[in-house]
Amino acid sequence: MKAIVQRAYGPPEILRIGEVDRPAPGDGEVLVRVRASSVNFGDLVTTRGVPYAARLVLGPRRPRHRVPGHDLAGVVEAVGPGVTRFGPGDAVYGEVVAGAYAEYARVPEKFLAAMPGGLSFEEAAAVPVAGNTALKSLRDAGRLRAGQSVLVNGASGGVGTFSVQVAKALGAEVTGVCRTRNVELVRSLGADEVIDYTRADFAQAGRRFDVILDLVGNRSLRELARLLNPGGVLVLSSGGGGTWLGPMGRILRAVVMSPFGDRTLRSSVVGRSAGNLATLKELIESGAVRPHVECAYPLGEVPDALRHFEERHARSKIAITV
Ligand SMILES: NC(=O)c1ccc[n+]([C@@H]2O[C@H](COP(=O)([O-])OP(=O)(O)OC[C@H]3O[C@@H](n4cnc5c(N)ncnc54)[C@H](OP(=O)(O)O)[C@@H]3O)[C@@H](O)[C@H]2O)c1
Repeated sequence: MKAIVQRAYGPPEILRIGEVDRPAPGDGEVLVRVRASSVNFGDLVTTRGVPYAARLVLGPRRPRHRVPGHDLAGVVEAVGPGVTRFGPGDAVYGEVVAGAYAEYARVPEKFLAAMPGGLSFEEAAAVPVAGNTALKSLRDAGRLRAGQSVLVNGASGGVGTFSVQVAKALGAEVTGVCRTRNVELVRSLGADEVIDYTRADFAQAGRRFDVILDLVGNRSLRELARLLNPGGVLVLSSGGGGTWLGPMGRILRAVVMSPFGDRTLRSSVVGRSAGNLATLKELIESGAVRPHVECAYPLGEVPDALRHFEERHARSKIAITV
């Protein structure tokens, strides 16, 4: 089968399309004919092997997994022993540790869910990592409740576009931060207020929030914590940081600083969850959440897709068509 193959760490160009053996589903596993995937921050980390601390998990000298890619949507080709929820022909979506940038992927049944109705494969593949991050950051880490106010810094990106919609679905009053060309997009997602960061500084707007979700990492923790109402929560889900620790440095500082008076600083470290995929399916089918895809690249052009993502101004999600 065709797959993107990674033999070393480096810039996106080191990823090459090649032929590898088609995986066979083991106990409790499903073989999915992948129809689409999407690009996430984690793909940059896996490709470059930066921050270096991540190599403790990814492989110290070279990547442990030869085929990268986390998000997938496709059709069940075959199932291994013990699989009860899916059979050949079912449309599914989910998240894998690695191996989604390929024609076929082996996925534990517990990390798959039925694909939401009414979506293309590209739209469905945009959901798992970004939608799950939005849900866990706001509902679980932020404990966002109806009637509360939330600020989403980085509202127009992959995680941000889901976050604005999830926050509205939770009944919150949402302020999104993005640059000029994305103001209308963020408003169309349901944001009550949109701050164009090229024209106004949200930290100087005199506003306070119950929850702040930071997806950019361009403000100090103190600056963000000062914008919280008493009892408020700052949720960090942002990249950036140095080449050794990356976002972990900022997250560790937040752990040390929290609780910040009567404010709480929390990181949102997200694990795979089929339960959340089912919740996202419901939100999508009810019309509360709609995945947005800026563009789709064919499998052979994953390096170009990663280059696009690396500019850090993607407008919603970048999909990969397999
Ligand atoms: N915790 C987890 O498990 C987890 C999982 C996934 C992602 N993440 C983190 O979430 C973050 C966002 O990921 P993503 O996939 O959404 O990235 P993305 O699609 O690249 O989005 C980044 C967004 O940041 C915005 N941005 C850039 N500079 C900005 C500024 N000065 N002020 C406000 N917004 C700015 C851009 O919007 P404009 O073009 O409008 O500027 C862009 O849309 C990443 O840092 C990643 O590490 C965490």
